[in-house]
Amino acid sequence: MTTRSVNLNMLHNDRSDVKLNDLTFRQYMAMTLILSTLNIEHRYPEVTEIKGIIETKSDRMLDITLRALSKKGLLEYYGLDKSPMLTVPKRNEWLFDLFTDKLMLERETVTFKDLKRIVKERELPARYSLTTNAAIQAPLDASKSELLRQLNNEKGIVHRWYSYLQDFPPSLVWDKLATYGIKPGQVVLDPFCGSGTTAVVAKLMGIDAIAVDINPVACFVTSAKCNWSIDLSQLRAEMESLLNDFAAASPVLDDIRLSDGFIKIMPKMERNQWLKTKPQNEVAYLGSRIGEMDDGGYKQSLLLALVGAAVEASNVAFCPGTTFYPFRRRDSFSEAFQKKLNAIYEDLYLLKELLNDTDFGNVAVFREDCRNMSEYIRKEIDFIITSPPYPNDLEYTRQTRLELYLLGCVRDMDDIRDIKRRMVKGSTKLIFDDSDSAKYVKSFDSIQNVANMIGGALKDRNWGWDYPRMIREYFGDIYLTLLEIQKVLKEGKYALLVVGDQTYKNILIPVGQIICELANDLKFAWTGLETLRIRRSTMHSIPLKEEIVVLKK
Ligand SMILES: C[S@@+](CC[C@H](N)C(=O)[O-])C[C@H]1O[C@@H](n2cnc3c(N)ncnc32)[C@H](O)[C@@H]1O
Repeated sequence: MTTRSVNLNMLHNDRSDVKLNDLTFRQYMAMTLILSTLNIEHRYPEVTEIKGIIETKSDRMLDITLRALSKKGLLEYYGLDKSPMLTVPKRNEWLFDLFTDKLMLERETVTFKDLKRIVKERELPARYSLTTNAAIQAPLDASKSELLRQLNNEKGIVHRWYSYLQDFPPSLVWDKLATYGIKPGQVVLDPFCGSGTTAVVAKLMGIDAIAVDINPVACFVTSAKCNWSIDLSQLRAEMESLLNDFAAASPVLDDIRLSDGFIKIMPKMERNQWLKTKPQNEVAYLGSRIGEMDDGGYKQSLLLALVGAAVEASNVAFCPGTTFYPFRRRDSFSEAFQKKLNAIYEDLYLLKELLNDTDFGNVAVFREDCRNMSEYIRKEIDFIITSPPYPNDLEYTRQTRLELYLLGCVRDMDDIRDIKRRMVKGSTKLIFDDSDSAKYVKSFDSIQNVANMIGGALKDRNWGWDYPRMIREYFGDIYLTLLEIQKVLKEGKYALLVVGDQTYKNILIPVGQIICELANDLKFAWTGLETLRIRRSTMHSIPLKEEIVVLKK
């Protein structure tokens, strides 16, 4: 069997004057779907399938995308009402080369069991290795707590193990815990913990923390980042053995297509959007190798390195939305994986040098909806610092889709829908027929006015996504969260919410201001707003504030 490889330079040569790099994300995704469906199933995709891949419900948007591709000569398109709607012109058959490689159509399919046999037969030499013990050097003259502050604020110790787009700066959390005088023996809560920034900072300062998130990926990441009681010599031995096996298997992983692990459960189209063939195999192989290990505490750290590296080496681009761009420059998966292992080992090594196990704070993680957290949080809380989702249409299960499948948190779309249903409605794609938090904010004119204005501006142009409803549901969910904050927080204590204003069609949603209004209605003793920064965008003329809502019970 042969594998065709892609030479991107050819795209600029005589075959066509269209540069694929110039296609918009929607056009690129539509083209990927059309060619792959033709290739695999020998048919053109249905209208609904193309709409799905370009994430629109609107015929108009679909029509615009296909017309643009037709203008560029990549498709013959006759309009959505015509049958047949599409054809790929004969002269563009070279395009198949590009997409078939991506779809790994002609590779041999093997299982983990076959792979073990093939690797054994080949007896390949090992190539990978760990670097130093602790690359982060501690200044000798600083006090221990000043040193930890520097490592947290400047080096991102532990935080750097996993990148999360919506995280807040570790230095902000450190400064606020210090300013509000939070000490060991007290309990800090982050009800929207994401990648666990609050929990890690509290732990570093010797303070106990409770972290809540509805996304199982966020909970896994937070737990893994707070797992510091690991036998380091055992961790290093496991890392080295893993890298040796990986090095031996690596050349084989070039030529085959694995059929088990996450490859079996993650839908093919989505999997191919995220990762090219080789990293898919590499990630699946390492996932199975780590899966076979005894659960010696270090397993979670190795898995964190794996998922963190998989995302870094993937095709994903998080702006605009969650889109895919195979031409993105990035580390190879194996480079990214080794860097992650090194970072985890170095940071744990340094922490062991600096702190005893009894100096760390304890962290409890709840994979729950925070809109009813008083039902499962049994401790009284001394301080809350958190950043809820913003009403910016960002959909977290899409952003973490690869990790959800890699970690085995979901098996299908039903599992994903279950998570989405329980999320705060910061995105139109999280709204279901039975979402009903809007009723809590009916009497707030500021919310109704903004929703109505956006409704007016987007009339006939919202492409099927209901932004006005999203605004109402979003603030309804925030209202419920504030109610719960009030129940778990001690009298006279503070909750800090980092939020950002948004705009749609040049209409401002003053998020911080509206949350203060909700908090006043709930009779918090004191509410205030602190400006963190002003964001400017090339898309509109309105400066957008990022603020801290300060609430005192
Ligand atoms: C802005 S992110 C938080 C980022 C975090 N501050 C960090 O540093 O990584 C918001 C988080 O809220 C979570 N979330 C959304 N709805 C939730 C709900 N109902 N209960 C708990 N968490 C929720 C999302 O999964 C996401 O991880």
